[in-house]
Amino acid sequence: MIRNQWYAILSSEEVPRQGLVGVTRMGEKLALWRDETGSVACIIDQCCHRGASISAGKVVNGQAQCPFHGFEYDKQGKVKLIPANGKANEVADRYRVQHYPARDSYGLIWIFWGDQSADIPEIPFFNDLKQGFYYTQIKDHWPVHYTRCIENQMDVVHVPFVHHNTIGRGGKTIVYGPKVKWEGNKLTWYVKNVVDDGHTVAKPAKDMGSEDDLYSLEIIMPNIWHNIIAEKVRVFAAFAPVDEENCMIYLRFYQSFMPVWGLRHLIGWVGRIYSSIILNQDKQVVITQLPKKSSLRMGEKLIPGDRPIAEFRRKNEQLMEEYNPKI
Ligand code: FES
Ligand SMILES: [Fe+2]
Repeated sequence: MIRNQWYAILSSEEVPRQGLVGVTRMGEKLALWRDETGSVACIIDQCCHRGASISAGKVVNGQAQCPFHGFEYDKQGKVKLIPANGKANEVADRYRVQHYPARDSYGLIWIFWGDQSADIPEIPFFNDLKQGFYYTQIKDHWPVHYTRCIENQMDVVHVPFVHHNTIGRGGKTIVYGPKVKWEGNKLTWYVKNVVDDGHTVAKPAKDMGSEDDLYSLEIIMPNIWHNIIAEKVRVFAAFAPVDEENCMIYLRFYQSFMPVWGLRHLIGWVGRIYSSIILNQDKQVVITQLPKKSSLRMGEKLIPGDRPIAEFRRKNEQLMEEYNPKI
């Protein structure tokens, strides 16, 4: 996983107003909670005293209290109180655990998984989805690395096979392009699939026509995805890395054409059911992929239609080289 990035790791309601939450993300045990103002904190869930799970404790005065001997941690992971030493005793700096800057934005909990000293950028999100949409959400655990999950949503070749009776009806097996465009850490790809009537596809990207007329999808590195189904209908997903072999997917159906309360709930419900059927079709295949994690030079024999996946792997490698120190 790439260091020094904002990762969407949970849905906002999974960190309630009160209490501590223990969760595995980024291959680490994390403890999260909210202070009195509702802002979120995230520290490593292993007490520096004798290793107990801090998340099994409680929140006291906006700080996380370990259940074993009552050490109290602030949002920076620093122990502010050791009850056995008395309130009057100042706690030495070495009593601390690692923390990650955490935020609650766009209905998701984000952590900046990186160096304490790094410059912290804005949380990356799709501009279109920042306001004006209603959404419903599915949460689903997949037993593969998050790179396999995100690549599945970038795969324009699988649609007529895996989704032959849903979104891939019509047998459009020929893949033009896809055209791809990077803007910083955001990749957009433009799709045109057609039925194979025997014609050859020599220079597919050239024959695709204007980007404005093409179906497009986007990712923002490292772990969010946006499917532009129509101006007012979108699907979004965050792929929260659990560890090297597991991912939690938060998939959302967004719509902005129906603001009326009852109808919007009905549409949200239908969108949610349909999305979960499609996601489950993907899951049945992706969980069989080996290895469980992708990488740039893994020996897979990609084809031109896999261009978005190849681009993702290249960018992933480039960001890893930039941010993950070699050991
Ligand atoms: S193990 Fe946490 S306070 Fe002792
Ligand atoms: Fe799919």
